[in-house]
Amino acid sequence: MTRTYPSPAEMDAAVARLCRGELVGFPTETVYGLAGAADSPEAVARIYALKGRPVAHPLIVHLARSSAITDCAREVPASAFALAEAFWPGPLTLVLPRHPRILTAVTGGQDTVALRVPAHPVAAALLEAFGRPVAAPSANRYGRISPTTAAHVRDEFGADLPLVLDGGPCEVGLESTIVGWLGGQWTVLRPGLIGIGALQAVVGAVAASAGAGAPRVSGSDAAHYAPRTLTRLTVAAELALDSDRVAVLARRPRPAGFAGLAWLEAPADAVGYGRRLYADLRRLDALGAREIRVETAPDGVEWDAIRDRLRRAAAR
Ligand code: TXA
Ligand code: MG
Repeated sequence: MTRTYPSPAEMDAAVARLCRGELVGFPTETVYGLAGAADSPEAVARIYALKGRPVAHPLIVHLARSSAITDCAREVPASAFALAEAFWPGPLTLVLPRHPRILTAVTGGQDTVALRVPAHPVAAALLEAFGRPVAAPSANRYGRISPTTAAHVRDEFGADLPLVLDGGPCEVGLESTIVGWLGGQWTVLRPGLIGIGALQAVVGAVAASAGAGAPRVSGSDAAHYAPRTLTRLTVAAELALDSDRVAVLARRPRPAGFAGLAWLEAPADAVGYGRRLYADLRRLDALGAREIRVETAPDGVEWDAIRDRLRRAAAR
């Protein structure tokens, strides 16, 4: 994977913007984020305004290192440290009881806070240089597909976001796994690359999904991560039927009879598929197709996060 690094001058400019309460686009290993100082009410308000995100939908607080967890959460079970030890820096977000110093604007008014130490070297360098926690949702307008390249972020925000640090294409390509410490047990709130089995191997019991009364997760709105073009999940045998002005994403080559606009052949392995998924959906969404058809994903647990995102992309 080609990795790009911003110049030292760009890194300095990014830190200066964060210090002024302004926003910066930055790469993480999962997707690009829209960063603002987590302890600045102005910065947090700007994040919600720029994304067009409802203020009740909480943001993830990004930390330079796991030791900062106790500055942000008022109760940290030993198992949270075990998860941090096993998976940070990396694509895992922990939801814990909010420390009073965390702005309620960051947590959407909830009494819990989402924390993550990202692994991308540019994210790590930015957090280290800024020296304070950074609140960052994915750098897309509310409800749209998350960005996995700096160009995607520029497409989303244009001149409204003057500085986007380019760290190359994201290695994971799907948002972090979110696991919450709720009512004395761990619950997966959003599936990601780190699967439930890997979490269970570290902390024992982990519940698969949130029940009633669980905190809001904006990614759990039905129509989320969605292309503008009508998107449908389709079994392989029906991908090429009546294909006029249709755009397809499938784990197989384009068949002879396909008469549509585009056929993208996706990797057959879940990790490779996830890395490319959002870029592929953006390409297909730009074609002015009548319909995007995506081949349904396989059943295995390694496809959990992908099935989740495809379901949302196709929700209306
Ligand atoms: O991979 C990621 O997590 C990326 C990168 C930039 O770190 N960030 C990301 O942020 O996906 P965003 O805002 O698009 O999604 C954050 C998710 C939302 O679904 C939000 O509701 C949930 O985290 N979340 C944040 N705080 C929470 C809390 N206290 N309780 C439950 N869910 C929370
Ligand atoms: Mg998002």
